[in-house]
Amino acid sequence: MADARPFHWEFSPPPVQREVLRVAGGRTLNGRVQISGSKNASLKLLAAATLTGERCRFTNVPEIEDVRVMAETLRDLGVVVDHPEPNVYEVASGDVDWLFVPLEAAAKMRASFILLGPLLARFGRVIISNPGGDRIGRRPVNLHVEAMRALGAEIEYRNGYYFARAPGRLRGTDVTFPVVTVMGTENAILAAALADGHTTIRPAAQEPEVDALIGFLQKMGAEVHRTAPDTVEVEGRKRLRGADQHVVSDRIEAGTFVVAAAVTGGQVTLDGAPCEHLGAFLEVLEEAGVQLHCERETIEVRGAPPGSDAYRACDITTAPYPGLATDLQPPTAVLLSQATGTSLIRETIFEDRLEWLGELARMGANVEMIDDHRAALTGPARLHAAEVEIGDLRAGASLILAGLAAEGTTTIHGGHHVHRGYENIEQKFVDLGAQMERVAEEMTTTPA
Ligand code: EPZ
Repeated sequence: MADARPFHWEFSPPPVQREVLRVAGGRTLNGRVQISGSKNASLKLLAAATLTGERCRFTNVPEIEDVRVMAETLRDLGVVVDHPEPNVYEVASGDVDWLFVPLEAAAKMRASFILLGPLLARFGRVIISNPGGDRIGRRPVNLHVEAMRALGAEIEYRNGYYFARAPGRLRGTDVTFPVVTVMGTENAILAAALADGHTTIRPAAQEPEVDALIGFLQKMGAEVHRTAPDTVEVEGRKRLRGADQHVVSDRIEAGTFVVAAAVTGGQVTLDGAPCEHLGAFLEVLEEAGVQLHCERETIEVRGAPPGSDAYRACDITTAPYPGLATDLQPPTAVLLSQATGTSLIRETIFEDRLEWLGELARMGANVEMIDDHRAALTGPARLHAAEVEIGDLRAGASLILAGLAAEGTTTIHGGHHVHRGYENIEQKFVDLGAQMERVAEEMTTTPA
């Protein structure tokens, strides 16, 4: 019986410890960097563990804020989450007593919504906050909700919360999405894993993190398979068993460090980098003239001296995997600001994801905003230090790259965003020869 804690309809987010990053430019990066486990894979694996009462163990989990938020959200549900050593989490979702995912979790991390499918499938009910948008677009969750309804769930929306119930069990069905949605696909897979009958999901997202989730579910005994590049089929089971999983490495972090070497003129080797998951990105870099060698889990980058016109402009368009990841658009744009000529950037996934280029322009990049989805970058532009503000974690990491390539010391406000998704990012850059520091800014509390 869930305890009678009242809903906190009036939400006052916890005080945010804002951070400033100070990045000294003009230093060449050299050496080796170990790429961490994928944020976007880890969050879904932790959620998938609620599909069973048995213990699940995850290794190579990145030590990042979003994982800590997910762990806390699970603990608040009554799930046992142990963190026996760095990069290791163990989860046991015995009897969960409070099926409520509060706005507090959703406000910190949109990915908390991935709990809808598994909690509905396993426990038959959940109250979960609408995660809303962040600085890269509206970020609706309507497709997730429609998929759950197609699987037989009853979902009402009141005061910012979804009240979801599955009378009896969810029932297998055909789930058809109008657009490719990564977490929509993942929520549907997680719900279908315990549904009664067969589910077909299409177009199913093809991101490597989705296949990592499918691999884990198969180890749990789920009947789930990718039967065509954009199709996933699931035969629901009554119960699943505990399993272990080593988290796949983070392709977005890898792309970020490749660009760091390219724009500082350094020679950097990335260890544990998922070459096979970076196809479209590496094609762009080759076209731009970046010298790199990719073999299994290692990428060697030999950056050109800053100010040389070694890099060539090229047009890029983001797309669902295997296309160029929207999360790699910001780092790629920093590289293109240093390329000779005009590059056209088309952002097709999120409506506000080019907004951050305004901050890059403040550092001297030559940016022409054409419309919500297109921008032109003309280079090579000599970047200079500025005070800039981070909106989302991928833009944040890319402003660090710009700071590394700029003259002077750049001050980046909103540094805490970066720590949501990049493990030990300052130390990794410092170990490569960068000079940067993280400073706490004034505490900000949301007015009551
Ligand atoms: C995942 O977000 C990633 N997040 C994002 O990474 C990534 O940018 C995105 O996929 C695209 O690859 C996690 O995995 C935690 P979508 P997701 O559903 O699943 C629209 C990062 O920094 N849409 O694939 O939320 C949506 O607005 C983050 O790690 C609806 O309209 O993205 C977008 O235009 C940023 N209704 C498009 O679909 C819905 O119900 C694709 O979004 C859901 C999505």
